[in-house]
Amino acid sequence: MGKMKRILITFGTRPEAIKMCPLVLELKRRSDVQTIVCVSGQHREMLHQVLDVFGVKPDYDLSIMKPKQTLYDVTINVLQKFRKVLAAERPDVVLVHGDTTTTFAAALSAFYEQIPVGHVEAGLRTYDIASPFPEEFNRQAVGVVARFHFAPTLRAKRNLLAEGKDPATVYVTGNTAIDALETTVRPNFTHEVLDWVAGDRFLLVTAHRRENQGEPMEQMFHALRRVLVERPQLKAVYPLHMNPDIRAMANEKLGDLSNLRMVPPMDVLDFHNLMARSTLVLTDSGGIQEEAPALGIPVLVMRNTTERPEGVEAGTLRLVGTQEEAIYEAITTLLDDPEAYQAMSQASNPYGDGTASRQIAHILIEQLHEEP
Ligand code: UD1
Ligand code: UDP
Repeated sequence: MGKMKRILITFGTRPEAIKMCPLVLELKRRSDVQTIVCVSGQHREMLHQVLDVFGVKPDYDLSIMKPKQTLYDVTINVLQKFRKVLAAERPDVVLVHGDTTTTFAAALSAFYEQIPVGHVEAGLRTYDIASPFPEEFNRQAVGVVARFHFAPTLRAKRNLLAEGKDPATVYVTGNTAIDALETTVRPNFTHEVLDWVAGDRFLLVTAHRRENQGEPMEQMFHALRRVLVERPQLKAVYPLHMNPDIRAMANEKLGDLSNLRMVPPMDVLDFHNLMARSTLVLTDSGGIQEEAPALGIPVLVMRNTTERPEGVEAGTLRLVGTQEEAIYEAITTLLDDPEAYQAMSQASNPYGDGTASRQIAHILIEQLHEEP
C-alpha cells in the first residue's frame, strides 16, 4: 500500500466557507485520505461565523485580513503565506473554491510549487472581465492551472470545454451550496428579526460587489428607500457586509427608516432560514443566486451581468441592473402583481441534489489513487 494521500483544502471568505465546509466534513469522514484545512482569513468575523456553524477547525489560519484591504494586500499576503504552508505540508492536491482573490492566489502558489489544483465551482463565466471585478479574472485564471474542474452544472462544463479543457478533467457534480442548505434550513426556526417582521411581507437585502460600490450602490439604496417610504406596511431586513465604506453609505442613506432593520452579518443558519421566509430578495451576491432558486424565493439581482444564468432560465432570478428606476419598478411589480410573483416563485433548483460534496470527494479520492 502506498502513502496515504493528502488533500489540502483552502478558502478565505464567507461564501467560500459556506460552500467548502460541507466538503471538508465529507472528506474528514473518509479514512482513506488525510484532509488539511487552511483558511487565509481574507475575511475574519464573517468567516469564523461559518466555521463555527459547521464546527470546522482549520489547521492553519493565515489571518491576513486588514481593514480596507486592497487586492494587492490580499494577493501578496496569500501568495507568500500559503507558500510556507505548501512547503510544510506538500499535499497531493490543493482544493480551492470559486473566484475570490484567496482562490486565485492560493491556486497560483500551488502552481508555482507544481502541486495539482482542484477547482470547486469551476466554469462559471460572464466573459466580461470587468464584471464581476475581479472575480471573472480570478476564476478564469484558476481554470488555466487546475488539474480537476468540479463544475456545478452542465452549462459550466460546456464553458470549460469551449475553452479547450481536457474533457477527462471536468466533472459535473452540482453545487455544494445545495448541500449546505440541506443542513441549515429548518421548519421550526425562530428569530428575533422574524418577531419584528410579525408576519408582514419583507424584503431581504444584501450588497457588497466591488464594481457596485459608489454610484451603483447609491442607486440601489434610493430605490429601496422609495419603496419603503411609500409602503409603511412593508418591511425590509438588511444584514450589512462588514466593509466599512458600505456600512457608512447604508447608514447615511437608509438609517432613518423605521420599517428597515439593518443588522450585522447573520450567521448562515439564521440567514438561510430568514431567506426561506422572505417575500423577495434584493442582492448583488453570487451565492444567494444559487440558494434562492432552491428555496423558491424570487431574487432581483442588482448587477449588469450574471455567471448564473441557470437561475434566470429557471425563472427565479431577474437581472435588474443598478439603476434606481429599474430596481424600483421591478420591486413594485412583484409586490403588486400576484401573477408575476407566482411565476418567479416556482421552486426549481438547477444546482443539483445536495450530493455535490460526496461526488467531489469520491471522484477526487479515486483519481488520486489512480495517479502514480
Ligand atoms: C470578497 C471577495 C468577493 C466575495 C466577497 C464575499 C475578492 C476580491 N472579493 O469581497 O469575491 O464575493 O468577499 O463577501 O476576493 N471585513 C471585515 N470583516 C470580515 C470581512 C470583511 O471587517 O469578516 C471588511 C474589512 O475592512 C475588509 C473589507 O471588509 O478590508 C473588504 O473585504 P474583502 O475580502 O477585501 O472584500 P469583499 O468585498 O468582502
Ligand atoms: N449570507 C450569510 N449571512 C448574511 C448574508 C449572506 O450567511 O448576513 C450567506 C448567503 O446565504 C450566501 C453567502 O453568504 O451563502 C453569500 O455571501 P456573499 O454575498 O458575501 O458573497 P458572494 O456569494 O457574492 O461571493
